[in-house]
Amino acid sequence: MSTPVLFFVDDLAEGLEPSAQRFHQADPTAAQINVLDLSVTRGDGIFETAGVQHGSIMALDAHLTRFAHSAAMLDLPQPRLEVWAAAIRAAVAAHEPADMLSAKFIMTRGIEGTGVPVGWVYVFEGDEHDHEREHGISVVTLDRGYRHDVAQTSPWLLQGAKTLSYAVNKAVLREAARRGAEDVIFVSSDGFVLEGPTSSVILLRDGRFSTPALDQGILAGTTQADAFTILEAQGHTVEYRQIRADELVGADGLWLLSSTRCAAPVRELDGAPVPIAREISDALNTALLARTK
Ligand SMILES: Cc1ncc(COP(=O)(O)O)c(C=O)c1O
Repeated sequence: MSTPVLFFVDDLAEGLEPSAQRFHQADPTAAQINVLDLSVTRGDGIFETAGVQHGSIMALDAHLTRFAHSAAMLDLPQPRLEVWAAAIRAAVAAHEPADMLSAKFIMTRGIEGTGVPVGWVYVFEGDEHDHEREHGISVVTLDRGYRHDVAQTSPWLLQGAKTLSYAVNKAVLREAARRGAEDVIFVSSDGFVLEGPTSSVILLRDGRFSTPALDQGILAGTTQADAFTILEAQGHTVEYRQIRADELVGADGLWLLSSTRCAAPVRELDGAPVPIAREISDALNTALLARTK
């Protein structure tokens, strides 16, 4: 495994004291984060993970836009996106070449009481996902416990922001494992398909590709958006809409999409087989893996 690269972002947000440098490289094996940082004590901060294919950062603008949106939802200072973009590019360039890397960037609320956020970019070689793309994954549906309109009724729950509070997103994977599955599709308490704990959902049924409408307290997936562009260019019909959980039964194809895994076809849902639309799945992954931005 190659050595990861760490860059701290110094001039990271609007309205803060000007900093002498925009960003700087640091030792990823040394202790760097203060034990009073609110990311450590409260999970209070935001992050993004972009895929990096052969040195090209995928969907960087979309990740930066979502980062700024998450910052706004958490009442954090607005990140200086041009500094973040430069730091991410520099960190990727400092990493030894690899087929696929992940560029994770994080902004925390900082050390308690200071009001000064802390931010960094960490570039690393993640897990290999060829097997999942080829053989598919086994998935269970789990109730998220919120209605589909939670983002409108209770915006303080931060549904739709990419926060560092991922303990629940990890807990559901352990629940999936207890049920003999590898991943999860969240369903709202009133019966609508939402998203995976680290992925977006695309359903193929009756010749149409559907993904849950984005106003249902879910993250706007950058990979799903690129997948829709690709599918449309290939002549397919795509749509954002409310999808009832019972529509997943009898799907002609079902995928979980995310930045480094790309399109993982679901081969089993709640113990029942789901067909892998092989040609479509392979063509979609070939196109997603061939993106240059
Ligand atoms: C909750 C959630 N939904 C969807 C996604 C997929 O987003 P993207 O395709 O931008 O990686 C992620 C990615 O981590 C996620 O955490």
